[in-house]
Amino acid sequence: MTMAIIWLFTLFSVIYAIHASSNQPYRTAFHFQPPKNWINGPLRYGGLYHLFYQYNPKGAVWGNIVWAHSVSKDLVNWTPLDPAIFPSQPSDINGCWSGSSTILPGNKPAILYTGIDPRNQQVQNLAIPKNLSDPFLREWVKTPKNPLMAPTSANKINSSSFRDPTTGWLGKDGHWRVLVGSKRRTRGMALLYRSKDFVNWVQAKHPIHSTKGSGMWECPDFFPVLNGGQSGVDTSVNDGGVRHVLKVSLDDKKHDYYMIGSYNASKDAFIPDQVLNEFFLRYDYGKYYASKTFFDDGKKRRILLGWVNESSSVADDIKKGWSGIHTIPRAIWLHKSGKQLVQWPVVEIEKLRTYPVKLPSQVLKGGQLLQINGVTPTQADVEISFEVNKLRKAEVLDCWTDPQILCSKKDSSLKGGLGPFGLLVFASKGLQEYTSIFFRMFRYQNKNLVLMCSDQSRSSLNKGNDMTTYGTFVDVNPLHEKLSLRTLIDHSVVESFGGEGRACITARVYPTLAINDKAQIYAFNNGTADVKITSLSAWSMKKAQIN
Ligand SMILES: *[C@@H]1O[C@H](CO)[C@@H](O)[C@H](O)[C@H]1NC(C)=O
Ligand SMILES: *[C@@H]1O[C@H](CO)[C@@H](O)[C@H](O)[C@H]1NC(C)=O
Ligand SMILES: *[C@@H]1O[C@H](CO)[C@@H](O)[C@H](O)[C@H]1NC(C)=O
Ligand SMILES: *[C@@H]1O[C@H](CO)[C@@H](O)[C@H](O)[C@H]1NC(C)=O
Ligand SMILES: *[C@@H]1O[C@H](CO)[C@@H](O)[C@H](O)[C@H]1NC(C)=O
Repeated sequence: MTMAIIWLFTLFSVIYAIHASSNQPYRTAFHFQPPKNWINGPLRYGGLYHLFYQYNPKGAVWGNIVWAHSVSKDLVNWTPLDPAIFPSQPSDINGCWSGSSTILPGNKPAILYTGIDPRNQQVQNLAIPKNLSDPFLREWVKTPKNPLMAPTSANKINSSSFRDPTTGWLGKDGHWRVLVGSKRRTRGMALLYRSKDFVNWVQAKHPIHSTKGSGMWECPDFFPVLNGGQSGVDTSVNDGGVRHVLKVSLDDKKHDYYMIGSYNASKDAFIPDQVLNEFFLRYDYGKYYASKTFFDDGKKRRILLGWVNESSSVADDIKKGWSGIHTIPRAIWLHKSGKQLVQWPVVEIEKLRTYPVKLPSQVLKGGQLLQINGVTPTQADVEISFEVNKLRKAEVLDCWTDPQILCSKKDSSLKGGLGPFGLLVFASKGLQEYTSIFFRMFRYQNKNLVLMCSDQSRSSLNKGNDMTTYGTFVDVNPLHEKLSLRTLIDHSVVESFGGEGRACITARVYPTLAINDKAQIYAFNNGTADVKITSLSAWSMKKAQIN
């Protein structure tokens, strides 16, 4: 019954002036964002989802980071409360950074978080709710024993690289365990701590896992996934029916990577299936960082939330007066191959769907653009599935290429064989601006490779934005299954799920022409081979009530 979360985003201190502009074409309607400044950070208690996020109430300087708090009944509509945790003790006087919550026996939530002490050292602290009868968990009290974990000359922990405690799990020996992100020189690691009472913690001799050269591990997350099925399990479950996932946010790369493997409880070691140093699985191949999962004991699922920063210039962020959003909460489970996770927007988000548009199954010829009319073009949910058969038309790939680079070299304007085909969103009338999310097939060493791209290079005439193209290969066999794409479009967010959630790419775009009702959505095919659209459904999305 563990839940919750928070997470950190510590490293960026950008100055935000508060300036609410009346013209806000990029402000999201159903993705979580705070009224201003940047955000981060969830728990379920008393039938409510609690979202905590890193927030600077003064909106100006480094420091003062507090745990802002919003609650929701449905993971869609959120109500703000006062900050849950803010600097008040020596052990957190210079900031309350990220951490996680754990539900202790008797349905008692507890939060472990990183505090910044008077010497600017990173230390770990505990807070518990003041009043368990309050389902809103408005007030939290800190133990006078804080900090509970601290760098010392004996443990040789780098006091600038010691943060983000995980949700705790209970071993069969009755002891709790948590991980804390750290590094030793350039070796990234998740330090392990054990405790009988959740207050007195002892560092284990070995980290649960570490990887040479990976740099600082932020926001580690360690949890079991069922070996078969889409349900989630409590963080303490460790039996023959589960595998374990260790996710780390690599500070050097600014991406969230995960490994699937086994957790040997007697050794307290995580043994990943892939060779060490092979950090190739990512939750999201676009913009996405500092994510965390929690177990939703109501609906028996594990939910993942991630943080997405802006791609606009700091000057533009100041003009907008806000920065940073959360992705749509995603249910997460192990794919039946056992080789990767699958993510899908929580079903609750479908309550926002309205005015459905369905197009009949049809062939999309090479070079064809098919406009999708009838939905709000900047606030929509689009699902499309393709069937391909002429795999001999796939382009030949001579040498292995990083998929992100392949996507920028072979963008949607470069005619292919089988593909590029997919969606054009935030498209202006004359196509001066558009963002394309597409698939492209390759033959590589007698294997079919499916490339999925999100190309932002033409997303805006304002060249001051970061318009990096993103891409990944999707583990789909197009001969035996349909190739699906779902894209959530929300003013400046393009959140895409390929291969039924096997590959996710989130992008931020700031068009100058394709805004409000001036944007258009198309299905397109720029290959020489025809492809068949087997289904196409689109909805306008209602505005969620967010803070
Ligand atoms: C605890 O919360 C409940 C429910 O909100 C409230 O009725 C009660 O007065 C609170 N108790 C204290 C001591 O604040
Ligand atoms: C400790 O971590 C900080 C922050 O990454 C780094 O600048 C510093 O060099 C590290 N110190 C040592 C002794 O490795
Ligand atoms: C866990 O590690 C111990 C000690 O190395 C070993 O004896 C045991 O077989 C391992 N258990 C599993 C399930 O791999
Ligand atoms: C935030 O966005 C900028 C510019 O788009 C990028 O360079 C940076 O790495 C991002 N940070 C994270 C944590 O994703
Ligand atoms: C399709 O390819 C043509 C020719 O290369 C190009 O002019 C056009 O912009 C492409 N369409 C898209 C949507 O990129």
